[in-house]
Amino acid sequence: MSDPTTIRRLYGRRSGHKLRQGQAALVEELLPAIGVPDEGPLGAAVLFGGDRSLHFEIGFGSGEHLAYRADLLPDHGFIGCEPFLNGVVGALQHVRDQHLTNVRLHMGDALEILERLPDASLRFVYLLHPDPWPKARHAKRRMVNHGPLDLIAAKLQPGGEFRLGTDDPTYCRWSMMIMNQRPDFEWLAEKAEDFLVRPGGWPETRYEAKARRKGHEVWYFRYRRAAMNEEIRVRP
Ligand SMILES: C[S@@+](CC[C@H](N)C(=O)[O-])C[C@H]1O[C@@H](n2cnc3c(N)ncnc32)[C@H](O)[C@@H]1O
Repeated sequence: MSDPTTIRRLYGRRSGHKLRQGQAALVEELLPAIGVPDEGPLGAAVLFGGDRSLHFEIGFGSGEHLAYRADLLPDHGFIGCEPFLNGVVGALQHVRDQHLTNVRLHMGDALEILERLPDASLRFVYLLHPDPWPKARHAKRRMVNHGPLDLIAAKLQPGGEFRLGTDDPTYCRWSMMIMNQRPDFEWLAEKAEDFLVRPGGWPETRYEAKARRKGHEVWYFRYRRAAMNEEIRVRP
């Protein structure tokens, strides 16, 4: 297993505009109530009080996708991680307004939380529009790298799904190259529409809407975690 710590320094913004009073109150009151505990092993029982399918979103932005999925699948448990305070506030507003009881949030690094989950415990992992780090010398900071992917692979159940979306052509090519090297993930696309058209149950985030308004194309990748003894052909 390669070293997942290559991403460990958290890059990017932690906070933006000052919070209004109501937003600050959400952070003080609702976040502790639905926050992922700071220490100890995690799992469905610890987080949701019983067995259920678990979904994990890395860098949920303002939480539109997380809230949509949690609303769609009320019997499943959703864990979202995002270091950007104003984004966390957005997710808290969704949780409050949509009366979601199946969401747990962590304000910080997703990989720290992933590490504390049992192996093979997740049904879905979502990584939507990860920070692109377009310069080649920053490529190691990209979430799509073998270190973080080893961790994601370990935590996904066999047959579980990893969803990746990007509007960045460099990131798209990079991800295809890296994912192509992995025998533990099977790309589920059979034809071009499968990654050019948004799949059902995959709502548009605010970030994506903005990208489309700028004329960007968006690519949607779905990968199935292979079973341990299954061999996926790796292309040269
Ligand atoms: C370009 S934004 C996309 C946000 C959202 N996924 C969307 O599609 O609207 C990338 C997000 O990833 C978050 N991020 C970066 N590194 C992270 C990490 N190690 N763990 C969790 N989130 C991270 C950033 O704070 C940022 O909000």
